[in-house]
Amino acid sequence: MEFHVYENAKAACEAAGVLLAAQITRKGDSVLGLATGSTPIPAYAMLVSWYERGVIDFDRVRTFNLDEYVGIDPQSPASYHYFMHEHLFSKVNLRPENVHLPSGQTAADGRAYDEAIHAAGGIDIQLLGIGRNGHIGFNEPAGEFTYGTHTVTLTQSTIEANARFFASPDDVPRQAISMGIGNIMAAKCIVLVATGSAKADAVYRTIRGPITPRVPASILQLHPCCVVLTDREAGALMMK
Ligand code: PGA
Repeated sequence: MEFHVYENAKAACEAAGVLLAAQITRKGDSVLGLATGSTPIPAYAMLVSWYERGVIDFDRVRTFNLDEYVGIDPQSPASYHYFMHEHLFSKVNLRPENVHLPSGQTAADGRAYDEAIHAAGGIDIQLLGIGRNGHIGFNEPAGEFTYGTHTVTLTQSTIEANARFFASPDDVPRQAISMGIGNIMAAKCIVLVATGSAKADAVYRTIRGPITPRVPASILQLHPCCVVLTDREAGALMMK
């Protein structure tokens, strides 16, 4: 696992954007695993700016997002569909048929998503944020690691963290559909970005702690091509 600390959050996120752009440059029909949340926004802004300047082309790129709330209207500003549309999909030449987010809530819905990823040839590069509790996607701390795309019940900590996107915490959906840890680990390369002091403990436990489903991101220690990019605050405990 590679670990790099940057001067500030923007630089850490832009470094992730560099890796995604390099992947697209190397392989025009790359399969990108994408994440939502506040953290990746500068990475998407950077990809949009490079697209506008003709540096990268999304014409043959395929994307698979990590997760979505169960039952949310895709047009709702709090949905991950909406987020991706706002920050990336509407701003580059991705073909609508090449863009995928998980939906539904049955085991068959999860399997269909896994099969679509498999049919695309697997994920070349997976972008990840991390929760304060060490979650990746919506894989919350649990007694065991998840495998494929599945429905999850959100923890109180995640509901509180995500309430800022809704009118009130009561409006946060209680369930989401998320790629599993197995899907994430199957990506050929992984880029995890963490910024801000609230993530410092999760970063430390991810990189230095025991590998345990109680800190879902800790399994990334076993991935052969994983880089963790942080700002000074999120990387603070790693410097001690
Ligand atoms: P954030 O979310 O980027 O909004 O902090 C990350 C996550 O919870 O995975």
